Amino acid sequence: MRRILVTGALGQIGSELVPALRARHGAEQVIASDIRVPPAGAGTDGPFAVLDVTNFRQLQDLVRRHEIGTLYHLAALLSATAEERPHVAWEINMGGLYKILEVARENRCALFHPSSIAAFGPGTPRAATPQDTVQRPNTMYGVTKVAGELLADYYAHRFGLDVRGLRFPGLISHTALPGGGTTDYAVAIFYDALRHGRYRCFLGPDTRLDMMYMPDAVRATLELMEADPARLEHRNAFNIAAANFTPAELAAEIRKHLPGFEIEYEVDPQRQAIADSWPQSLDDTAARTEWGWRPRYDLAAMTAEMLEQLRPKLKLA
Ligand code: SER
Repeated sequence: MRRILVTGALGQIGSELVPALRARHGAEQVIASDIRVPPAGAGTDGPFAVLDVTNFRQLQDLVRRHEIGTLYHLAALLSATAEERPHVAWEINMGGLYKILEVARENRCALFHPSSIAAFGPGTPRAATPQDTVQRPNTMYGVTKVAGELLADYYAHRFGLDVRGLRFPGLISHTALPGGGTTDYAVAIFYDALRHGRYRCFLGPDTRLDMMYMPDAVRATLELMEADPARLEHRNAFNIAAANFTPAELAAEIRKHLPGFEIEYEVDPQRQAIADSWPQSLDDTAARTEWGWRPRYDLAAMTAEMLEQLRPKLKLA
């Protein structure tokens, strides 16, 4: 079997996807890569390479040297950072994806590329957003996501590339922190709840968004990549959904475990505007029928497990 390369491996998704891939295929079969060097003590459980995804030659060398057959391309800036640095976001998110697609085409690699709820915009139906609908995002992150979906479709149809992807909602995990996203509050709230018993939220109390616990996101990724291609109509941009809540509802759920927990709101207008441009919930029927997607973690299950996992990590057990 040709090997697997994961870009952005030290990020929020990569930190859990790499161990899951290594458990399935063997540690030596999975090359983790990132533009950052792993912190001391991390990244020692298998091969690691420093990689700038905007450097075509470096990418091509790595893919050929390690005989890569499948790419999981996770390197990207998230929504709030992309809005602050739109030129850099275009360079990394679009430039990186284009080079990954070219390397995948030249080396006949399969490719996983995540899209997002951010691929939709203010003109999209906001509740139970259909799989195929209006996509006119008004953020740079969203523009790169919808353009990425189209480019991936083009490579699939024009060059027969096996490229697949998911429109992830906000992802919640206890392993690695997200950075620069609009949905980051749903992770930070757990750390502050356990450490300080209170959290100051940068989105308003009624901001409803789809969210997903990382074990569901990792399983969705693996299941999609293993799905029978003959059954896939949408291939690289499946809506998927699991949990759905507002900051006020998440705070109420945390309070069931930590009764004294308090939340206050100091709305950041830029991130609020981004959240308000996104759907409140996605219809994931296509993922359910085309490859059997079923979430396992709702708000209650995710909250209980996040608190249980973070307590020892924060030495609060
Ligand atoms: N979680 C991401 C963000 O907030 C959305 O894809 O940017």
